[in-house]
Amino acid sequence: MNKLIHLTSKNHSIIVKVDSIPEIIHWGGKINEVDSDLLFAIERPISQARLDIDVPLSLCPELGRGHFNAPGIEGHRNGTDWAPVFQIIDQQIEAQSICITLRDDIAQLELLVELHLDHDSDVVKKRITVTNKGESEYYLGKLSSTLPLPNHANELMTFHGRWCQEFQTQRQRFEHGGFMQQNRRGRTSHENFPGLFVGENGFSEQQGQVWGFHLGWSGNHELRADVRSDGRRFVQAGELLFSGECILGANETYQSPWLYGCYSSNGLNGISDRFHHYVREHIISFPTDKPRPVHLNTWEGIYFDHKPEYIMQMASEAADMGVERFIIDDGWFIGRHDDKAALGDWYLDEDKYSNGLEPVIAHVNEKGMEFGLWVEPEMVSKESNLYRNHPDWMLGLESYHQPSGRWQYVLDLQNTECFQYLFDRINDLLTRYNITYLKWDMNRELVQPGHNGRPAVHGQTKALYALVDKLLAQHPSVEIESCSSGGGRIDFEILKRTHRFWASDCNDALERQTIQRGMSYFFPPEVMGAHIGPTECHSTNRQHHINMRGVTALGGHMGVELDPVKEAEEEKAAFSHYIALHKKYRDLLHSGRSFRMDVADKNQYVYGVQGEDETIVTVCQLAMPSYALPSPLRITCVDADAKYAVTLIEMPKASFQLMKQAPKWLDQTLTLTGNNLQEIGLILPILDPESALIVSLKKI
Ligand code: DGJ
Repeated sequence: MNKLIHLTSKNHSIIVKVDSIPEIIHWGGKINEVDSDLLFAIERPISQARLDIDVPLSLCPELGRGHFNAPGIEGHRNGTDWAPVFQIIDQQIEAQSICITLRDDIAQLELLVELHLDHDSDVVKKRITVTNKGESEYYLGKLSSTLPLPNHANELMTFHGRWCQEFQTQRQRFEHGGFMQQNRRGRTSHENFPGLFVGENGFSEQQGQVWGFHLGWSGNHELRADVRSDGRRFVQAGELLFSGECILGANETYQSPWLYGCYSSNGLNGISDRFHHYVREHIISFPTDKPRPVHLNTWEGIYFDHKPEYIMQMASEAADMGVERFIIDDGWFIGRHDDKAALGDWYLDEDKYSNGLEPVIAHVNEKGMEFGLWVEPEMVSKESNLYRNHPDWMLGLESYHQPSGRWQYVLDLQNTECFQYLFDRINDLLTRYNITYLKWDMNRELVQPGHNGRPAVHGQTKALYALVDKLLAQHPSVEIESCSSGGGRIDFEILKRTHRFWASDCNDALERQTIQRGMSYFFPPEVMGAHIGPTECHSTNRQHHINMRGVTALGGHMGVELDPVKEAEEEKAAFSHYIALHKKYRDLLHSGRSFRMDVADKNQYVYGVQGEDETIVTVCQLAMPSYALPSPLRITCVDADAKYAVTLIEMPKASFQLMKQAPKWLDQTLTLTGNNLQEIGLILPILDPESALIVSLKKI
């Protein structure tokens, strides 16, 4: 057996050499026809003082075959069978996919490697399933998916972060050694987003070859990028399994999460185009294709201070501003007066809501808005009836004391009674009240996550998916937001069963610009919850003018997060203005092609969305401009031959400090050809720090 399998998508090719073991030999630009001499052309020499055979970088690299870097599979059978070597026993090849079955008869393990290349988006996904074919238990330590990179991919862009500062990026050389990220927090996490990019030297938003990766999984993970000493390199990602977490009995299987990847020859924009396309086609499914409703979420407006009359006043103000969905956040359930108690007791607090929740919901609905409610089903407070009645439902290890997080603990979702209780409670809320939206929160990491004494992050993550799936099966028209102290649970797998992410608890527009930019590499704007907060940001105490706050929130799935009753008329008018602007452009924002631009001013972000007939470009001045004059904005994504009506649709209303005289065109609509816009560009006003403008280019 020695042949090449060629998978093609709209723009790309993957070629797999199937010899004794499958190996990807090309993943990148499209190959029109595979040359008959290609197998010769790619034959590797054997170097001195190494193994006497060539060792392929296979679809599941094996230690036992002489792959000295991270193997794809690790485990043992009571100390044996720890270095399996697989042989192909079957392969199913279809137009867009390869499924290869491999077996090691000595170790009695079978692998199924699935590789799909999506035609329209060019996104590849890969996962591996292992089956224990032996009689005795197999202790699986790791099963990760590996994808190779060409040797000129020598720069890495990785993600780091923390609460209120998600999706921060870092660049580093990728020439020797490598990078490894291990997430043991039990949720996708703020700190270790499971994604990275590797590209040719200096790849940027618009330039260079780049390969992008994302592991769709909401539990622990290991993500690595390795350069072997022979120069070959690869990315590998999978679930991080704790010791003893996965013990396979006879004929039991373990399936890895999907690793998603894509290639781009035009920088990071090509990566986000593809991931967004894939998410829109294959990951997210909205119950209806209505426009994403503008939200008002009560959290920063009233926190735990719930008074139904007042909330109804907030709702009236919200409706007047153009809000379409009103969400009551934390604080509505029995005994929840602060964050130290009551999680688990998912019954309405009738002391606060003496007439029930119905009048509030009816009022919200009368005002033309949908109603949403906050829940945090996976959690329990020690100060709760649930904990008092079922202390054993807590996820933990008996005899150990585990630290609380935000004063709370995690419930063991693999405990079937606990699972059923949570299903019943949320199901009851969704049945009893006219709730169309749940903000599903998750505010702590997992420490000592034990189920029956065994590590349980895998089982807990699966049980969470099962709980959400079961609720959605019962209430298919309900939408769910995935929130985890902001952006602690953002990934493709949770997005298959949710409809929006709360990107961050940080509503500071300046911080949000960077958070949202990082998130935009993987996720399209319609799933990125972005709210206008109060003038003084609650998480940073920084103050921003409404222009900066409005423009920043406008680019995602927009909402407001404040108490409109307390806001001045002028501010409320401004909220209405940005909400109206968002509604005007949301079809474009939520279906168009998002892009970011390379700019000369390092203190500026320029980004936009391209639609069929209209493109809007936002320029955000983060800090002092690098130069006294702005560089012309050269907009490359327009059609060279088309004519465009160019209008400024948003700019700061406050007086400018750095600019004495604005360009005259700001008050008029210019007609410019795509060719002029691409080659010469448009000179913009000088923006003061922490302000933003938006330009529209409409095809004539
Ligand atoms: C953390 C979330 O990220 C916030 O938006 C808010 O819902 C609080 N939890 C409520 O406790």
